[in-house]
Amino acid sequence: PIAKELFGLSLLEDQIRQAYNLRKVIVVPGDSDTSPMTKRELGRAGAKALLGVMGDEDIVAVTGGTTIADVAEHLTTPSGGPMKGGWFVPARGGLGESLEMQANSIVSKMARNVGAQYRLLHVPDLLSQEAYESLVQDHMIQEIVETIRKSRIIIHGIGNAEEMAKRRRLDPDTVADIKAEGAVAESFGYYFNQQGVVVHRMLTIGLRLEDIKRTEIVLGIAGGASKAAAIQAVLRFGQEDILVIDEAAAEIIASNC
Ligand code: BG6
Repeated sequence: PIAKELFGLSLLEDQIRQAYNLRKVIVVPGDSDTSPMTKRELGRAGAKALLGVMGDEDIVAVTGGTTIADVAEHLTTPSGGPMKGGWFVPARGGLGESLEMQANSIVSKMARNVGAQYRLLHVPDLLSQEAYESLVQDHMIQEIVETIRKSRIIIHGIGNAEEMAKRRRLDPDTVADIKAEGAVAESFGYYFNQQGVVVHRMLTIGLRLEDIKRTEIVLGIAGGASKAAAIQAVLRFGQEDILVIDEAAAEIIASNC
């Protein structure tokens, strides 16, 4: 029965990989909405996928969220020794979420676990126009943003638009706007509609859409049946290279391919 189950998962992987022209798809068994074990498995598989592509001199941009925090937990120093020349940086400003899910905390943990270096970005996830304009003039911030934009790899979570808007404590009017614009997914501070078009963005500092588009490896990790539509929207955006999801999400995505 185990072989049969694994065979089923690899069929799902192939189907989604071909439908969205991805480099690699990994499907872990179960549904992370209901199973903490599946959520951990996602983290483990995500860590393995990252170590499989990360080179010693690479810069890796990282988003926040509980899923990517699970990836950090599972990263270990590679058998070849610590990745002393590697860097972890937050993808975008992330202060605002609770500490354990902030990109800054995840970045320092990932770096510690693989023996790499890191830099932090002390910028909120949502800025006023005035704050934005003064922060982009700051030399320290300019320097870190330059490093972030040189990332070869982005590792990111995917969330449901409305849930993320609420988790970020956006005011009720903005939450309603985001919904009215048809957003179903959120990732790296951008909100996507069902077709994968960006319909809303958070004003912050770090990676921009054009940076994401030219990044060599975009690695997305998310799971749970409740996130299937959001994952599919981000797949339609078309920048994903490697996708790590769970069976529950994969089944829904594959049935809509
Ligand atoms: C946020 C990321 O911190 O976490 C988003 O910036 C992502 O890209 C979200 O949508 C997902 O969070 P979680 O906790 O569901 O993994």
